[in-house]
Amino acid sequence: MAVYKNEIIGDHPSIHNLRRLISRVATSPAQNVLIYGETGTGKGLVARMIHNRSARAQKEFLDINCAAIPASLLESELFGHERGAFTGAVERKLGLIEAANNGTVFLDEIREMDLTLQAKLLSLLDTRQFRRVGAVKSTSVDVRFIAATNKILLSEVKDGKFREDLYYRLQVVALNIPALRDRGNDVLTLSQHFISRYNAIYKRSIRGLSDETADIFLRYNWPGNVRELENLLERIFILEDDDEILPRHLPDRIVRTVRGGSQAPAPEARSVGTDDFHSATADFQRKLISRALLEAGGNVQTASSALKISRHALRHQMAKLGL
Ligand SMILES: Nc1ncnc2c1ncn2[C@@H]1O[C@H](COP(=O)(O)OP(=O)(O)OP(=O)(O)O)[C@@H](O)[C@H]1O
Ligand SMILES: [Mg+2]
Repeated sequence: MAVYKNEIIGDHPSIHNLRRLISRVATSPAQNVLIYGETGTGKGLVARMIHNRSARAQKEFLDINCAAIPASLLESELFGHERGAFTGAVERKLGLIEAANNGTVFLDEIREMDLTLQAKLLSLLDTRQFRRVGAVKSTSVDVRFIAATNKILLSEVKDGKFREDLYYRLQVVALNIPALRDRGNDVLTLSQHFISRYNAIYKRSIRGLSDETADIFLRYNWPGNVRELENLLERIFILEDDDEILPRHLPDRIVRTVRGGSQAPAPEARSVGTDDFHSATADFQRKLISRALLEAGGNVQTASSALKISRHALRHQMAKLGL
């Protein structure tokens, strides 16, 4: 039995397309890549795949979570520092970027990087040179940067939280990972994949999901995406003895949301507060347009044809919604 590692499982057209893009981007000379996807959709996995399929595969893949490192430390972590650059800098220290020379640097949760550091990153992306903290001379590096975010960066730009120039620099090659709820039957394929994996790990022989469970899985909205599914199944392997996954193994939260209505609401409608018609519709339009723009790499013409409205109408809506 094959236990895939670092493979993106799924048959949905959007996943086929993603795999194709991953291969193309990996072998392309593109130096900067942006990955967008909700939490748990597989951003880390995609970044790793791009590295593994590239000519850089034998070199470092450094995974840096910009949200996990305090802003005050991130700069010297990334760029390194010279001896005496600040109190406590007793020796010269090589930064992560230098350590990853000829490899890939994965900047996860890029939106959390503070604005000053964003400026330094931009200059690095433009010149492929940087300065260690406290250094006079710059150092050259050859790394591919893969940035990931679960926030629509364009709205962050609008709110002044993300530099517009950095955004445009990064989104030249942007990959969008669809939410699990938008991948049709892939939730079942992925379930089977994880069940095989856990059967091997836990020495069990669970056959699969019962029909009713499959039905619930297809209708649940999976806010935590693939990671939520993976964790849920593992928990069942640990806590239950049956040789099939049954609805009673599922947390109330899931069964309740799914049974709440005879049909699952449209994906977008779920995340929108529906108290006030006007603000809810505006919110929905804002999301729809932001996503189309993101997928179109910021190109209004492409986004408008995807939305099947005229470019003029899209511009008008964007202005109205403050996008
Ligand atoms: N299509 C897929 N096929 C197989 N495994 C997947 C797939 N997508 C995600 N996974 C698995 O789901 C888990 C979550 O993926 P990953 O950590 O890459 O998500 P993420 O988008 O980086 O999440 P976060 O935003 O929380 O950092 C991982 O264990 C990953 O291997
Ligand atoms: Mg991640």
